[in-house]
Amino acid sequence: MKKTTLLFATLLTFCLSAAAQSSGFAKLDEWTKTWKEVQQTYFGYPANEHSALADFYQWYVSSGMDAVNLNNAGDPMTDDPWSMSSQAFEREVIEFFAPLYGFQPNQAWGIVTHSGTDGNNHGIYFGAKYLFNKTGKMPVVYVSDEAHYSNLRLCDLQNLDIKLIKSDNMGRMIPEELDKALDHTRPVLMVYAMGSTFKGAIDDMEALNAVLDKYPELVVYRHVDAALFGGYLPFTRHKDLVNSQKMRYDAIAVSGHKFFGIDSPCGLFLCTRDIYDHQNNFNVTYLNGNMRMINCSRDAVQPLKFWWLIQKVGYDKWCQQANGMLENTVYLKQQLDKIGWPCWSNEYSNTVFFKRPAPEIVQKYHLAQGYDEHFGGELAHVVVMQHVTKEKIDGFIKALKAK
Ligand SMILES: Cc1ncc(COP(=O)(O)O)c(C=O)c1O
Repeated sequence: MKKTTLLFATLLTFCLSAAAQSSGFAKLDEWTKTWKEVQQTYFGYPANEHSALADFYQWYVSSGMDAVNLNNAGDPMTDDPWSMSSQAFEREVIEFFAPLYGFQPNQAWGIVTHSGTDGNNHGIYFGAKYLFNKTGKMPVVYVSDEAHYSNLRLCDLQNLDIKLIKSDNMGRMIPEELDKALDHTRPVLMVYAMGSTFKGAIDDMEALNAVLDKYPELVVYRHVDAALFGGYLPFTRHKDLVNSQKMRYDAIAVSGHKFFGIDSPCGLFLCTRDIYDHQNNFNVTYLNGNMRMINCSRDAVQPLKFWWLIQKVGYDKWCQQANGMLENTVYLKQQLDKIGWPCWSNEYSNTVFFKRPAPEIVQKYHLAQGYDEHFGGELAHVVVMQHVTKEKIDGFIKALKAK
């Protein structure tokens, strides 16, 4: 690098970090201070508080892209991406993740979504249309009673019939209950929970698929709601659990702001080409495209952040982070066991749920709360994300003991 360029870059970095000291608005500065503090003990929700986007923002401003109004309306997987967009990068993001979820080369379609819910919306909508276009009948949706509420809301929104299937005490859909509930006159839209929100349970897809296999006449579509677990599992030895070929699912939704630490909501939605090819066409002349996705305007910056993280963090570091989180989950459970605090954790999960502590601790650590009589009633949980280190866990245990 030339000396003058280096000097300019150093100066720019200095100015940007100096500017970050104060916004010029006392109210905003105070607010910032609060959340930087809260972040230190934010244990109850699945947000990676080690965001790695500082240099992205520096590049974004220094390149002048902050003054360019982009929009990813349209299909990023076509050969002719929309002009004022980051669709070319969005496509690379989908192509990076497709093999990690076991999709065959060139057989995946996908987008960067606005959130986990947006991904589930596409998963359920695509499933309903796929099944209707194949059979002429609307499906029944089957989902466990521990799955995230967004799935229920979306079925309500899409006017779909839903059957809530009972889960076992640990939160996994019970295969025998699915068998009993099946409506043999209509297609099946399965929503598998890959990480139920409170207990961190994964529906046993192989066991549930075996139930469905007993009825070869049923036309089945499977969507996986893998908001949190779909982020880290591909980087662990349990990666087969999120492999679309091994688990025979058609579509998956993953959040970008959970494991990947993107600093505001976004996500991934991927499905097979076969599913995409059986959607309703909306040929929109002014956009010069076939608009199969639900939203028209779509965010162009979030795909850039995803792309940036693939380059800057990437596969190996995500493996380290994912395995570190699972190690620290075991550590947290061991420390709770040591002090005799009733606690439970599902296999493959980075969530530990336990007897709810005193309100001061719930508040300080922002613990999410639950209730289940099988586990003594009032519960809380910790989601062991990248920033929940062993040292912080020790502090948490100390606080529990002191109470
Ligand atoms: C399992 C699961 N699915 C879906 C969602 C919704 O995701 P989002 O908040 O990104 O819309 C969540 C949120 O925590 C979740 O835990």
